[in-house]
Amino acid sequence: MIRLDKFLSEFNIGTRKQIKEILKNGRCSVNGLVALRPDLHVDENSDTVKLDGEVLSYKKFRYYLINKPAGVVSATRDGKNRTVLDLLDGENLRDVSPCGRLDADTEGLLILTNDGELIHRLLSPKRHVDKVYEVHLEKEPDDIAIQKLESGVDIGDLREDGSKDLTLPAHVENAGTDPDGRAVILLTIHEGRFHQVKRMMESVGNKVLFLRRIQMGPLKLDEELLPGQYRELTDEEISILKTS
Ligand code: URA
Repeated sequence: MIRLDKFLSEFNIGTRKQIKEILKNGRCSVNGLVALRPDLHVDENSDTVKLDGEVLSYKKFRYYLINKPAGVVSATRDGKNRTVLDLLDGENLRDVSPCGRLDADTEGLLILTNDGELIHRLLSPKRHVDKVYEVHLEKEPDDIAIQKLESGVDIGDLREDGSKDLTLPAHVENAGTDPDGRAVILLTIHEGRFHQVKRMMESVGNKVLFLRRIQMGPLKLDEELLPGQYRELTDEEISILKTS
């Protein structure tokens, strides 16, 4: 169930204030009855909502870009911790789930959607979708460490035949230091293994002190979003994600 004003706002027919006015003027009906109240709850999958006599069909797929804050888990449900879904207040979250996982203490770009095909496309190990992380480190990595990261490191994973499953070659870019004087690199990886960045840095004798994902495939973290904030993806972003 979803509030009628929220339902209507999905159709870009005006601001909240304008929607209130539309309702007040009796231009909207739900299952044949004029609906005047913005806080009326409608079932977006079974109720028939009309505006000026035209049926509004509800968007089947919904796509959100969130700047995940630290301290929130990338899950749909969790017994004790807040989840990323808890941050999408008032949205229709039916079947919406995060596209992949960030550790609880990792910040940054996370896509949430109910489009299973897109999730599969972005997470499929075969596709090697690029992920870019801003990595704040205990110490500046030297040339040897960078060379190792860029050719593939042993993070303890094994293949089925028992041989070492090295990470795919990554790309390292020096990004100076953060305000606390810690070394920062931009690390591009093409897989999504468990704790991958932290384990990669450990394998070269370093330690991640702070981690933020700033890009996934063609999609960059929106600088306007503070940690905990989100927005819907634009049609253009959705189409780029689906075709890139
Ligand atoms: N690698 C990590 O170690 N942690 C994350 O959250 C994402 C990538």
